[in-house]
Amino acid sequence: MDATAWNERYEGADLIWTAEPNMFVVDEVQGLAPGRALDLACGEGRNAVWLASKGWEATGVDFSSVGLTKGRHLAEAVGVEVTWIEADATSWQPPASGFDLVILCYLQLDGPGRAAALAVATRATAPGGNLVVVAHDRDNLVRGVGGPPDAAVLYDVAETTAVLAAGGLDIVKAAQVERPVTSAEGTRVAIDTLVRAVRRP
Ligand SMILES: C[S@@+](CC[C@H](N)C(=O)[O-])C[C@H]1O[C@@H](n2cnc3c(N)ncnc32)[C@H](O)[C@@H]1O
Repeated sequence: MDATAWNERYEGADLIWTAEPNMFVVDEVQGLAPGRALDLACGEGRNAVWLASKGWEATGVDFSSVGLTKGRHLAEAVGVEVTWIEADATSWQPPASGFDLVILCYLQLDGPGRAAALAVATRATAPGGNLVVVAHDRDNLVRGVGGPPDAAVLYDVAETTAVLAAGGLDIVKAAQVERPVTSAEGTRVAIDTLVRAVRRP
């Protein structure tokens, strides 16, 4: 989907996703000392706003202006400051000083797009900083619920770790993780890729 399609999807007052942060982002981040955080492909800003509420100097980047506007409204409602940047996550040039934390959550692009966005996220990670990737896993197609039905845009733990390691990061955690999804039919499980990596100081 391009930015126009995402803008159309985000039209309307309601959040498409939720105001709550992703459970794996919360788990991975809560032990870290706050610093400069980047939420790449931040959507409606739920994770960037949560990070700001925890004392991080948060920046959200997304190519959807409508998603970013919703992020601004969420930040206002919560009473936090976030820097919002409209840009393509596959080609954005992060500041040279980098970020102490970079998160990339459910940015489901095809192989070249995925590699480019992971490269941007890797470059944005400052020495001593952490990069957290959370995404719909390829196995979700066969034993999970929700997420895109197209294998080409799904993640794989080994592929993701290989790209981050090639970018000079050390892998701290790399696993398939289960995320409960509640619907009218009851609670089922989605399979996500979760990778956390650090850049040596
Ligand atoms: C499934 S949403 C996830 C949003 C957010 N990370 C979250 O977890 O709530 C995917 C987001 O990626 C954004 N996106 C897709 N391709 C992008 C690109 N090439 N550059 C920047 N943002 C992109 C969309 O606009 C959308 O907001």
